[in-house]
Amino acid sequence: MIVQQNVSLKPYNTFGIDENAGFLAIVDSTDDLDEIFGSGSFRSQRKMILGGGSNVLFTRGFTGVVVKNEIKGIHIFKESDAEVFVSVGAGENWHQFVLWSVERGFGGVENLSLIPGTVGAAPMQNIGAYGTELREVFHSLEAYEIKSGKLITFYKEDCRFDYRYSVFKGELKDQFVIIKVNLRLKKNPEFNLSYKGVQEALTQMGVSTPTLKNVSQAIINIRHSKLPDPVDIGNAGSFFKHPVIEKLHFEALEAQFPDVKSYPVDADSVKIPAGWLIERAGWKGYKAGEFGVHDKQALVLINLGNARGRDIFKLSNQIQKSVQQQFGIELEREVNVI
Ligand code: FAD
Ligand code: EPU
Repeated sequence: MIVQQNVSLKPYNTFGIDENAGFLAIVDSTDDLDEIFGSGSFRSQRKMILGGGSNVLFTRGFTGVVVKNEIKGIHIFKESDAEVFVSVGAGENWHQFVLWSVERGFGGVENLSLIPGTVGAAPMQNIGAYGTELREVFHSLEAYEIKSGKLITFYKEDCRFDYRYSVFKGELKDQFVIIKVNLRLKKNPEFNLSYKGVQEALTQMGVSTPTLKNVSQAIINIRHSKLPDPVDIGNAGSFFKHPVIEKLHFEALEAQFPDVKSYPVDADSVKIPAGWLIERAGWKGYKAGEFGVHDKQALVLINLGNARGRDIFKLSNQIQKSVQQQFGIELEREVNVI
């Protein structure tokens, strides 16, 4: 295990925020976790788990130990004519895993192509994109219980997945380190091309009968056209979740703004695209020195160079306030603020 002291976290978060960690420990086994969580030298320190740092905003330095998960390995543990069950180390890169699956003709994660970060963080918020969520292919996960050092298996129903939510973001927050994720993929997948723009992207590629690779590539193309690459512009994807509001509230909103979009939730409520609210509140393309709001996607807050995390956090507060004032809707952050 490598442990460094007083390390800049700038290369370890996609916002590119330059704050320091007291210690940075790179772990690649449960023995390493025992050493960090069980041993005398680090016992009294605060800890935080980090994967690819693509869903965090550091607003200050972290005085304790940042535990970067690099537990690796991909293997098939069960197979039938129709399905394959794959066990993936939490420290594997998510997109590389998607490419691994697509290459072998295993379907189910192609619509989740190019989401940054690690496999271990994917269940944390039940990652989702282009009409698919992780829970649809999730079988189980193995997690290290911090207080006991025991390994515990969580099945799908234990994780309480919901839109951008799992039990690990809720009542079990900060209690487990996910070390392995087991997924159930299909050998003869049916494609989900229903999300706006997917069919058009395939047509643009000249594809009428898509393969798994074509669908993955179409998603990659759409994402490149909308979302800034963190290598060029610091960001953490959508900063806020889509709010869910009551139907009556939506009808009043629609009367005032006939172009407002919505997604069905249940008989009494709908989800509103947060990007629409933020754009309508006038923030799209906003810049203040080193930070701002992306000009192609109002849900994405950006670091244009050397922004401080606390400035981006303040901007997120201002956006919340103005959306609340104009539409009476509360935006909840998706990004984990540290
Ligand atoms: P980190 O940012 O390192 O961590 C996120 C949280 O999970 C932290 O609270 C951390 O403590 C915890 N954590 C991480 N690993 C573990 C572990 N092994 N055990 C326990 N806790 C852990 N998300 C989507 O859902 N859909 C998208 O389409 C999408 N698009 C994005 C596009 C861009 C350009 C960017 C930058 C981000 C996007 N995201 C998207 C958000 C992000 O990629 C995902 O949330 C991703 O799963 C985060 O992975 P990570 O390894 O970087 O997690
Ligand atoms: N919109 C605007 N203005 C904008 C952006 C969006 O009006 O600046 C409206 C438009 O009506 C558009 C709709 O929002 O049609 C949907 O926009 P888009 O397809 O770009 O995606 P999104 O709804 O803004 C969500 C996820 C993304 C995910 C995409 C694709 C959330 C919070 N975000 O964004 O996830 O990649 O759909 O499925 O649910 C992430 O979580 O980090 C993330 C990037």
